[in-house]
This record gives sequence, C-alpha cells and structure tokens, in this order.
Amino acid sequence: MTSMFAADQAPLPNAPVIDVEDFRVWYAGVGGPIRAVDGVSFQLRPGEVLGLVGESGCGKSTLGRGLLALLPAGSAVDGKLLFGGTDLVAGSRAAWQRQRGAGLGMIFQEPMTRLDPLMRISDHFREAIRTHEKISKKDADLRALETLRALGIPPSRYKNYPHEFSGGMRQRIMIALALALRPKFVVADEPTTALDVLVEAQIVRILAQIKGTFAPAMLLITHNLGIVAEACDRVAVMYAGRIIEEGPVEQVFKDPSHPYTRELLKSTISLTTQELNSIPGAPPDLGNPPPGCHFHPRCPDAMAVCATDDPPEFVSGRGSRAVCWLGSLEDLTAAQRAPLVREEVSVADEA
Ligand SMILES: Nc1ncnc2c1ncn2[C@@H]1O[C@H](COP(=O)(O)OP(=O)(O)OP(=O)(O)O)[C@@H](O)[C@H]1O
Ligand SMILES: [Mg+2]
Repeated sequence: MTSMFAADQAPLPNAPVIDVEDFRVWYAGVGGPIRAVDGVSFQLRPGEVLGLVGESGCGKSTLGRGLLALLPAGSAVDGKLLFGGTDLVAGSRAAWQRQRGAGLGMIFQEPMTRLDPLMRISDHFREAIRTHEKISKKDADLRALETLRALGIPPSRYKNYPHEFSGGMRQRIMIALALALRPKFVVADEPTTALDVLVEAQIVRILAQIKGTFAPAMLLITHNLGIVAEACDRVAVMYAGRIIEEGPVEQVFKDPSHPYTRELLKSTISLTTQELNSIPGAPPDLGNPPPGCHFHPRCPDAMAVCATDDPPEFVSGRGSRAVCWLGSLEDLTAAQRAPLVREEVSVADEA
C-alpha cells in the first residue's frame, strides 16, 4: 500500500515533528489477529492539529495509544514512527517510552482517575516536571503556574487538592499537566461517553489557547466534527483501521472525496448531535474485514472492483488525498466499474 504522503508532495518549509508510515497495530483475538490499525500514514508539522474522526471501533484510540507505546500486552506494532529523525518502532520499547512526557504527550480525559486525591495540584506538577527534567522546585513551579494560567486556572489555586476544583477545571489541570512538560507531539483522545464536562465552545477556546501558547503538533481524536471544523488544521477520516481520506479541514469538509466521508458528514449534520452511527449498517469486524475496500458493503457508490481489490490512493484536492476506486475510474474496465451487485436479501425482497 502506498503512503498517504507520497514523494510527489510539495515540500513544506518546516520539517515534520512526527512522520508516521504504514503504522499497524494488531491485538491478539480469539479467531486471529484484530487489525485495529492497518497501515496508517501521516505527518504533522510544528503546531499543526490533525483531527481524527470515524465511527466507534474504527481504531482511533488504538492509533493514538499505539503512537505513544501505551498499548496493552498482547498487542503488536509495525511500521515506522519517525520522531526527531529516529524511528521509534525500530528501537527498543523502553527508548520509545522514554520519549513520553517531554517528547510525546498524552492528554487523558478521566481526571479523577488520574489525579491523586491526596496530592496537592502543586505536587502533581512538581513530580511530573521533575521526573523528566533536572530543574529546581522553584522553576518547576514557575513553569506549572505559567501553564495553568494559560488554561485559565488562577495561581491562587496551586496548592489546592483535586476535589476542590470543578470537573471542568480538573480537566484543564490534566491538560496543563501534559503541556507543562512542553511535549512536541500530543495525542488528545476525547471520551466517547460524552460525559466530559467541557462544552464544545470551551474545548475550542482551550485548543486555540494551546495552539497559540505551546503549539505542539497534536492528534485530536473526537466524534465532534464541529470541534474539528473550529480547531483543527487537517482532518483524517478513519474507517476499519485505515485512514481513507486526509487533508485540510476546509477542503475535506467542503468537498469530501470518499463516500464514507460524505456519509459521515451527512449523518452528523442531520442529527446535530455527537452521534455518528446513523450510516446504515455497521463497521466490519476487524478480525475478519471484507476484502477489497473495507467500506464496500455499506458504500452507496460501490462498484464490482471495490469488493475484490484494495483501492488506490489519489490526490483528491488541494493538499488532500483519499483511498478509493472512484479516483481511478479511467483505469477500470467496464465490468470493474459496474455497480456492485449485493448478495444480501433486502427487507423489501422478503416482504
Ligand atoms: N485491548 C484490546 N484487545 C483487543 N481488541 C481491542 C482492544 N482495544 C480495542 N480493541 C479493538 O480494536 C478495535 C478498535 O478499537 P478502538 O478503541 O481503537 O476504536 P475507536 O475508534 O477509538 O472507538 P471509539 O470511537 O468508540 O472510541 C475495536 O474492534 C476494538 O474492539
Ligand atoms: Mg476511542
């Protein structure tokens, strides 16, 4: 499979912070490996925010955790992850994990399970910063206060305990804890339960603040396309372990090329909620995905070729790419281009 970023891409002025090539993650499943991330490639430049969207179970969190070497035992990783010019996948797991904190950051969004109720906020910051850097308590405090201030937590609250804050403040403290280490690349994974207390406008404001102040490259995993539209530079659409379309947010949202992206955008717009599962059918079992394009069983535009052959990548717009046979129609025979004849008996046929 070719990379989402082929060599023909115009060179950009600044080097990527992170360069992911053909990244793969498997979980050990009962009936064989579950290919949760199946050949993902993307790059991020300093300060760039990439939104990662797609239905539940398509591999977003697995990708985010995989990049930070945070996967459970029983999983395997393959591909390339170039960070600061070093391929972290090729090195030892310990060397990869050492990059966490000051190099690779993760914003967890379950504050109460991550903050120690018996430790003051100041102690959380001192411990986190001084584990990664040889720095005095005073300097750690200065860094912590500067970071907290950027996230709207006043310095007067520095000595408080976690329970003395509101839920939204605790979430901002968690974000500040990750950012106080000044990571170059951050993964932020939004909980799917929608129980988080930060409302969309607040999240967008915080993301703008992070971008303006600390400017890490960021992978923002979310079900909320409104947040992507407001806060991300690029968007990657994931389906069944693969990125099927990726590009500048405006380009992809205005003129989506992949039928899955179109369906995803439609379903959100029609519901104006965070529920994305209104596309008919369900994503495939990643232990046994369908051949060809994984989306073909649900695709309104499926052709015969889609059920048998892996789709190729094509440039779908200014700086955007998609993986779909619709981009190579001229290379197909009439038989390959014929609308896909589906085998299932529809409800209407049974009636
Ligand atoms: N620890 C695990 N062991 C085995 N399979 C797993 C494990 N974690 C996730 N999976 C499987 O990997 C696939 C991708 O899961 P993942 O959590 O990455 O999806 P997601 O896109 O983050 O979904 P959501 O939007 O619901 O958070 C799913 O099929 C899931 O069942
Ligand atoms: Mg997830």
